[in-house]
Amino acid sequence: MASEQRYFNRDWQRTVYCGDVAGRDGTEVPVVVNGWVRRRRDLGGLIFIDLWDHTGIVQVVFNPELAGQVHERAKELRSEFVIAVRGRIRVRPEGTSNDSMRTGNWEIMADDFIRLAPAAPLPFEVGDTTDRVDENLRLHYRYLDLRRERMQRNLRLRHKISMHTRNYLSDRGFLEVETPMLTLSTPEGARDYLSPSRVNPGAFYALPQSPQIFKQILMISGFDRYFQIVKCFRDEDLRADRQPEFTQIDIEMSYLVEQDIFDLIEGYLHGLFRETVGTEIPVPFRRMTYREAMDRFGSDKPDLRIPTEIHDLAPVFVNTEFEPFKEMLAGGGFIRGLPLPGGASLSRKGLSDVEERAKRLGARALSPLQMKGGELKGPLAKFIDEEGRSLLARSGAIGDGDALFVIAGMDWREVSEILGALRLELAREHGLVAKGAWEFLWVTDFPLFEWDAEEGRWSSVHHPFTSPMTEDIALLDSNPGEARSRAYDCVLNGNELGGGSIRIHDPEMQEKVFSCMAFSKEAARGRFGFLLDALSMGTPPHGGIALGLDRLAMLLAGASSIRDVMAFPKTQKAQCLMSGAPSAVSPEQLEELHIQVLPPLPTAGEPKGREERPKT
Ligand code: AMO
Repeated sequence: MASEQRYFNRDWQRTVYCGDVAGRDGTEVPVVVNGWVRRRRDLGGLIFIDLWDHTGIVQVVFNPELAGQVHERAKELRSEFVIAVRGRIRVRPEGTSNDSMRTGNWEIMADDFIRLAPAAPLPFEVGDTTDRVDENLRLHYRYLDLRRERMQRNLRLRHKISMHTRNYLSDRGFLEVETPMLTLSTPEGARDYLSPSRVNPGAFYALPQSPQIFKQILMISGFDRYFQIVKCFRDEDLRADRQPEFTQIDIEMSYLVEQDIFDLIEGYLHGLFRETVGTEIPVPFRRMTYREAMDRFGSDKPDLRIPTEIHDLAPVFVNTEFEPFKEMLAGGGFIRGLPLPGGASLSRKGLSDVEERAKRLGARALSPLQMKGGELKGPLAKFIDEEGRSLLARSGAIGDGDALFVIAGMDWREVSEILGALRLELAREHGLVAKGAWEFLWVTDFPLFEWDAEEGRWSSVHHPFTSPMTEDIALLDSNPGEARSRAYDCVLNGNELGGGSIRIHDPEMQEKVFSCMAFSKEAARGRFGFLLDALSMGTPPHGGIALGLDRLAMLLAGASSIRDVMAFPKTQKAQCLMSGAPSAVSPEQLEELHIQVLPPLPTAGEPKGREERPKT
């Protein structure tokens, strides 16, 4: 009977997964396996097939003596054909085992097989080498890309994270509640994705940037402890750790203080790391105020795996004769330095490369110091007096064999951030990032507002529902820029894993914060009237946090991009190369939605995504 006339039925259903063939004793066990042909080799009359399913690969052997043309038909098998094989597991003959495979001591002697589906010629080989294939090509044929160990492992890890999250939170009395996807815009700082309403001409829903307002309202509704593993949508510039749609582990609690969130999340992450990567992470995590993080590491999400930190050099230059620094200090400016251990060996070219890099990061100038054989070298050395030198030695900013890169400026944040960015780049380049370390940190005491120069008003650093610190409430009238908030970020190895805050639960305070942000009373009521009403009807103190599930999975998987832990991610241009989304729609659809699109528009049916489709 030709294989094509036979069909898949119960007799051909697998009795064992490919990877589970390992561990059998010497007796020949009859089995059926289902899977994809990874490779075929014809050797001395025998045909060897590597058969793959998500549990692993097993070797299947077709003997030329097999009846019914089985051997002949096996010769036609190509990569990624889908087959069902009936045969017997046996221990491989001596000298033929393969230690690099889990099933390498076993093989299946085929008795018969059916071809369930052929595969067209492939755009790339599926397997360990797929990582080297251009990412756009992999995204275009994502189903093939996912059909390999690494991506399978990553998505299974993601599933483990979700399961652990649900169990952990549910065990502690948290209730998972779904909040709407078609909703009003929440100000989390990015642009909204909008969706038109057909039945409300001219009106639009926003896809949620986060369920922020809904989870607060659930606290007002008495649910007390909420969580949700939830898709969020933000139209912002994409990077390795940002996608337009991503997943949050969103949490809210009533009657809490900051410590409750810290305890909850530390316990959660401790259990998760133990379960997924077998690591006991130290708890409690370190804590640092925003101010300290910026001062010492030039970042609000410092990577503590890097041993260097920024030094304040103002005391070193206090008596300097160097005019620009003298003026800078007299005017209230800042002089700071970033040490590079071993940097004394940098050549003149090496030093000017660092200077170029600092300029690219926004510095007007950078001046290097080097300590060679106990002697301070560099253009600034002659402007540092004895007292300055001894201060420098005592501060540990520069030791023998090191370099120190000095930047001065009038803007504290700018000087800190340039040195912070330089710290990351130099540490990566010079191998200063401790391998295998997990450095967790809570950053607290963020400013409540930052100045939005474009709009000429204060805007929230976290979001407008974040409570100011009680002791800073008076500053809302006198100096809003100095007021600190009750917001906190959870940082891991220089990544912002999550952020949250204690919320405002008093409607008057909420109105006050809106007014600091130059929202008129009417505008605030127009946009957030429902929240202000809800706050006025018995609101418990409450607060929460959201962790980025994709970022967490990326770090646990050791991946360098969140795209590697998402089944169907989008490109930098927010396109899905596989489906071609986003695409133009028909004039009829637009008309129904009361939408007129300004030209130019590609013809409907020709998805824009095609433009980026790679050639195969
Ligand atoms: P926040 O805006 O800090 O807080 O977001 C929480 C966490 O979500 C992740 N994240 C992202 N991950 C991938 N792609 C993106 N574009 C993206 N944007 C954010 C980050 C981030 O730390 N409603 C508040 C939480 C709260 O106050 O409870 C919020 O959304 O890991």
